[in-house]
Amino acid sequence: MPDQPLWRPAFLADVADIARLSKAHLGPYAEGDAIFAERIRLAPEGCFVLARGPAIVGYFCSHPWMRKKPPALHEMLGEIPAASDCWYVHDVAVDADARGGGVVANICARALDVARSKGFRTAMLIAVSGADSYWKKLGFIDATTEALRLKLKDYGDDAVYMERALSGD
Ligand SMILES: CC(C)(COP(=O)(O)OP(=O)(O)OC[C@H]1O[C@@H](n2cnc3c(N)ncnc32)[C@H](O)[C@@H]1OP(=O)(O)O)[C@@H](O)C(=O)NCCC(=O)NCCS
Repeated sequence: MPDQPLWRPAFLADVADIARLSKAHLGPYAEGDAIFAERIRLAPEGCFVLARGPAIVGYFCSHPWMRKKPPALHEMLGEIPAASDCWYVHDVAVDADARGGGVVANICARALDVARSKGFRTAMLIAVSGADSYWKKLGFIDATTEALRLKLKDYGDDAVYMERALSGD
C-alpha cells in the first residue's frame, strides 16, 4: 500500500517538482521555477508540498499581498509589500490519485491559520477554469470588480477574484 501523502513546508529543492505539477495540472496558467522559488523565499511559512515518501504529489503556495491587487501571471514580486493587507492563495495543484478526503481543505486551513496568526483578516485568490465552485466550498466568495476583470484577462475569461474573511472562525 502506498504511503499516505503528508504536507510539509516547501523548500527551494522542491521547486522543480512544483513547476512540473503546475505544468501538468494548470495548463496555460502554469508558472515556472523562478516564480515558485521566489514565493518560497519570500513566504516560506505559506508554501507547502504534499510528499508521498520521496515523491512530491502536490503543492500549495500562499503569501501576504495587497487586497484586490493580485499579481499578474508570471509576475515576480521582488518583495512582500509593507502595505500587505491580505493573504493570497497563489496556487495549488494535487495529482489526481492524491486528491480527496479534504487534503487541500486541510492545508488551506493550516495556511489561513498562519495568516490569522500574523494579523491578516482577509484571504484572496484567483480561481481559474471554473474552480470558483470549488473555492466556494472552502468559504471564498466572488469579489470580482470590473477593474479586476480587465486585470485578470491573462487568467482566462472565466477567472474569478475571490475573498474570504479570516476573522471570527
Ligand atoms: C483543485 C484541486 C487542488 C482540488 O483537490 P481536492 O481538494 O483534493 O479536491 P477533491 O478531488 O477532493 O474535490 C473536492 C470537490 O471539489 C470538486 N472540484 C475539484 N476541483 C474542482 C475544480 N477545478 N472546479 C470545480 N470543482 C472542483 C470535486 O469535484 C469535488 O466535488 P464533490 O465534493 O462534490 O465530489 C485539484 O482538483 C487540482 O489539483 N486541480 C488542478 C489544479 C487546479 O485547478 N488548481 C486550482 C486553480 S484555482
